[in-house]
Amino acid sequence: MDATRQRFLMCRPTYFAVDYAINPWMDPTAPVDADLAVRQWERLRQVYRDLGHTVEEIAPVAGLPDMVFAANGGTVIDGKAMAVQFRDPQRADEAPAYRAWFEAAGFELYDPKHVNEGEGDILLAGGHLLAGTGFRTAHASHAQLQEVFGYPVITLQLVDPRFYHLDTALTVLDEQTVAYLPEAFSPGSQAVLRRLFPDAVHATMADAEVLGLNAVSDGRHVVLPEQATDLAGKLRDRGYQTIGVDLSELRKAGGGPKCCTLRLRQGKASR
Ligand code: ARG
Repeated sequence: MDATRQRFLMCRPTYFAVDYAINPWMDPTAPVDADLAVRQWERLRQVYRDLGHTVEEIAPVAGLPDMVFAANGGTVIDGKAMAVQFRDPQRADEAPAYRAWFEAAGFELYDPKHVNEGEGDILLAGGHLLAGTGFRTAHASHAQLQEVFGYPVITLQLVDPRFYHLDTALTVLDEQTVAYLPEAFSPGSQAVLRRLFPDAVHATMADAEVLGLNAVSDGRHVVLPEQATDLAGKLRDRGYQTIGVDLSELRKAGGGPKCCTLRLRQGKASR
């Protein structure tokens, strides 16, 4: 299996906190170790660097505790960047910060017409844009994504509030392969996934409950929460090399490695 060099955008969790609850993982009364969150995030960044990937950073903004979840900052494919529109007012101000970063970095910018939480819900796999809906990204945004990027969109209906973003229920391992938690999807969407990805890895609830599916693959190495031991074993059986990371503090906000990582797909050549 060949690894593809990646270019990622990340945001240091300088102002990370759990001050509000917009998903079932978040409990504002539970303690969060902000320094540990930073150290865990730095370790994730180091793992990417050690794998030869490029990590770009956007400056964190005070008062935006969830800005560390860069996957929600946009969708970037073939040099085009679609900005985001958050469902919840607590995250609204992150959108212009990420938008400005894409503009400065020279991406062709598009603005969302509906709620769209970026790569949290939109994943490119097998020539399709897999697009989640049900909790955050509006179904109406899927048509705009297809129009902007020119990849057929496959709408996937999420049904379990703990797996509120597509990237908490499904991970793309390489062009042909995904891993997912079937129960996180409606019966019709499960049938679509079986049809598109007959060889997919099926994760267990135990793996999903530690956000094991919130993983980042370069086609060969898969970076995932170290607590997702069953999933890691299944991936190794398939020939992937797994790298466990501990993001226990960020998980208190409902995020894992993938949430912290936005893939920047520059041009066709480097996809
Ligand atoms: N607290 C954040 C939220 O609920 C977590 C976002 C996680 N990001 C992701 N790509 N799943 O919006």
